[in-house]
Amino acid sequence: MEVEIKVRRFNGEKSYWQKYRVPVLSGMTVLDALLYIKENIDATLSFRYSCRMGVCGSCAVKINNKPRLACETQILQLKDVQIEPINNFRVIKDLITDFDDFFAKHRIVKPYLIRKNDSYEKPVEMIQTPKQLKKYYRYSLCIKCGACNSVCPVSSTRDDYLGPAIMTTVYRFMTDNRDEGKDERFKIVSSERGVWRCHFASECSEVCPKNVEPAKAVQKLRIKSIIYEIKKFFK
Ligand code: SF4
Ligand code: FES
Repeated sequence: MEVEIKVRRFNGEKSYWQKYRVPVLSGMTVLDALLYIKENIDATLSFRYSCRMGVCGSCAVKINNKPRLACETQILQLKDVQIEPINNFRVIKDLITDFDDFFAKHRIVKPYLIRKNDSYEKPVEMIQTPKQLKKYYRYSLCIKCGACNSVCPVSSTRDDYLGPAIMTTVYRFMTDNRDEGKDERFKIVSSERGVWRCHFASECSEVCPKNVEPAKAVQKLRIKSIIYEIKKFFK
């Protein structure tokens, strides 16, 4: 059977809709359909992908108005197929969006374990129990697809807001018992760009393809931040 696919395209100057007819088979994903178009109908169609298995996060697009991973969306489960670039990211070409700012914001929050006295000469064993791992495990599953940031109402109006994906990364490291960077991270979390900007629309958790629950991470980070400030005050 054939399915009509409507793609929102952008050529650097203007954006417009283009329709394609694609033969579909059971098991075919939206990414497969885009690849079919590129290989057989229109080589100029541009989109991004890598792993084709829901791991790299690079194929996030808006499918029927909702951000989803193209490689994980079965085409036969959709009635009509309308594909657009995700919101809140600058469009470079067709479905390809600019992730430079998104990754730069990740770098600001130092997305790695901070240790105060680590040395290669005298490595220290860092013990972690299954219970301690469980505290942050869910939040470590983020694949940086940007879907949550694309639906965040604050991210759509404030360029400086770090956004749900980055806040989730902060929470992941601050909940890890091996991390010693809490003071540095709290400064960022409590800043104008941090958690207090969140309006708690919660849409970020609705669209996350990995069930990471960024909205929950932001709220938990707020609680942590309050406790931290109170403790600092009474020190
Ligand atoms: S939290 Fe979820 S939606 Fe946001 S970037 Fe990570 S995987 Fe994507
Ligand atoms: S291609 Fe990697 S997540 Fe879709």
